[in-house]
Amino acid sequence: MQTKMWKRLNHPQKNDEAVREAAQLLLDQQVVAFPTETVYGLGADATNKKAVQEIFEAKGRPSDNPLIVHVSDRAQVESLAVEIPPVAAELMDAFWPGPLTLIFQSNGSAAENVTAGLSTVAVRMPDHPLALALLEAADTPLAAPSANRSGRPSPTTAAHVYQDLDGRIAGILDGGPTGVGLESTVLDITAEVPVILRPGGVTKEDLETVIPRVEVDPALAGSAEAPKSPGMKYKHYAPEAPLWLVEGDDSFFAETLTACKSRGERVGIIASRELADFLDHDRIIRCGSRRHLSEVAEGLYGALREFKEADVDVILCESFPETGVGAAVMNRLNKAAEKKVKDQ
Ligand code: TXA
Ligand code: MG
Repeated sequence: MQTKMWKRLNHPQKNDEAVREAAQLLLDQQVVAFPTETVYGLGADATNKKAVQEIFEAKGRPSDNPLIVHVSDRAQVESLAVEIPPVAAELMDAFWPGPLTLIFQSNGSAAENVTAGLSTVAVRMPDHPLALALLEAADTPLAAPSANRSGRPSPTTAAHVYQDLDGRIAGILDGGPTGVGLESTVLDITAEVPVILRPGGVTKEDLETVIPRVEVDPALAGSAEAPKSPGMKYKHYAPEAPLWLVEGDDSFFAETLTACKSRGERVGIIASRELADFLDHDRIIRCGSRRHLSEVAEGLYGALREFKEADVDVILCESFPETGVGAAVMNRLNKAAEKKVKDQ
């Protein structure tokens, strides 16, 4: 399959030729990648089982892992959910468009492979002009997981999508690098007290400014319980070389680096600007300041893709505080890591 790459669009409209062509491919049951404010998504008509099947095939995604449905207006949410509870209306007012996915009781309109047979459906309105233009042009909700090969870091540029999916999908809309850098927060509002199933761009602290109580799925804290969000049980975000997550102060990180080097290992490092300045090493990817975790979130997936198997034997990565978006950063790093190295 030839993958169409349209020219980068900076001020997209639903009538732009690229947007209309991409929408037509979607209506022809094909899959097209598009930017959102979090990561690039791989979209298909969420009401069409055959189209959605193409997503699973292109990504190599396990079929028991349900997809998020993207919408451009509230009417599309009403077309998918049994009802919109008051708490959902409040959250949509506060955070949509934006990186918050809400789990509703499904009315069965989404294709059965979107929900992987569950009675619920995940829905969000992306805060990106190109995503919204595409949704309006296609005039149907779009199922869209992150546009990476299953298991790989999620794509934050059109080039990342191309690396993973060239020849496997109909097209890629380029809207430049994504802003948030990590996926949306998945919040189950079908429970008495809403539960965070996946930490993401909207933080627990943000949610608590709008609703009185929010819980976190115990499975996220590493308990033995099976996660309620089926996708959270798979190996994810893996870089090409093994990643070790280093827990300790900057001196401990430096000692860990020295130990690796003395064994003759070629080491790549992912670190904040502060730690990078402290270390004496040439292969370091800096992802922002540790004082601004949103910068770390933005740079993380690009950094995970940067080190190639041929160049490094191991990647040492800094640990970050789990406050604000740091909770999402550490959730992804824990999944990407082969092991943790802790200061005793
Ligand atoms: O930011 C994002 O959310 C990106 C962009 C493209 O919108 N999308 C994304 O999709 O991250 P994906 O498929 O990579 O992750 C979807 C997550 C998975 O962990 C999945 O298990 C969970 O949402 N999910 C989907 N439907 C669900 C449901 N009905 N109940 C519980 N979890 C659900
Ligand atoms: Mg994903």
